[in-house]
Amino acid sequence: PPEVITAPARLRERIAAERRGGQRIGLVPTMGALHAGHLSLVDAARQDCGVVITSIFVNPTQFAPGEDFDQYPRNLDADLGLLGPAGCTLVFAPSVETMYPAGCETTIDVGGVARSLEGESRPTHFAGVATVVMKLFQLAPADAAYFGRKDYQQTLVIDRMVRDLNVPIELVICPIVREPDGLAMSSRNAYLSPEERCRALALHASLRLAEQMCSRGERDAAAIRTAMLALLAESDITPEYIAIVRDGTLEPIDPVDGPAAIAVAARVGKTRLIDNLVVR
Ligand code: PAJ
Repeated sequence: PPEVITAPARLRERIAAERRGGQRIGLVPTMGALHAGHLSLVDAARQDCGVVITSIFVNPTQFAPGEDFDQYPRNLDADLGLLGPAGCTLVFAPSVETMYPAGCETTIDVGGVARSLEGESRPTHFAGVATVVMKLFQLAPADAAYFGRKDYQQTLVIDRMVRDLNVPIELVICPIVREPDGLAMSSRNAYLSPEERCRALALHASLRLAEQMCSRGERDAAAIRTAMLALLAESDITPEYIAIVRDGTLEPIDPVDGPAAIAVAARVGKTRLIDNLVVR
């Protein structure tokens, strides 16, 4: 199993030593409850870095009151069992007190890209994400950090922050890993009952439908949205949003005349799920 580090000073020492040894260092930030989606990031990091650090920290500041911070699945032993064989070198698993000692007040507001879509449903979410990711970049100064396309807007928020604040780290964005039936892997899928798990397939199905419409020449974003809504309704799902945006931005694209990202968020029962796909 990989070495588990909880103290920032120890992490810093280990990274400095590896750096002196000439190793390229990759960081994979996670909240644990690891699945194949997370492991694909570790794998990508392993491809181009001699040292792979996975952080496991369920970050309280990105959960609003009433969200699932308390219920969020935590299982460090199972996570370590997966990370060893995946080729992860070090695990940074700090406590909440280590990350947020009494008195800390600074937060990062990334601006426009953090306001729409997820930011509208979860107004304090991205400040929590940006702040903790910046702290992780400081605590584990790596050459590259690996994020999943599953959280499309999160990748844009972190990219904006890294550029705006001159953070010397390369971002690598990895594709979405799905279950064989298409459901995007997520730690939150564990909350779904069998019936909800089945209805949740409509998210991916609606994205596939949009993709088919585009490949048959449909360019009208409103028509694509309407068709997606109808398909979701068949599974009794009313999405919080369907976004059809220019790929790599959050700028609405209509007509769909170039690479577009289509993103959807919906509650299935009490579980909030997100998914997205690129159409060319
Ligand atoms: P978490 O949800 O644990 O996800 C950690 C990383 O795994 C993110 O970059 C996410 O996009 C990626 N990931 C999750 N499911 C994936 C899938 N099915 N395919 C590919 N990648 C996937 O995202 C967070 O944690 C937090 O916001 C964090 C960045 C760690 C800050 O607290």
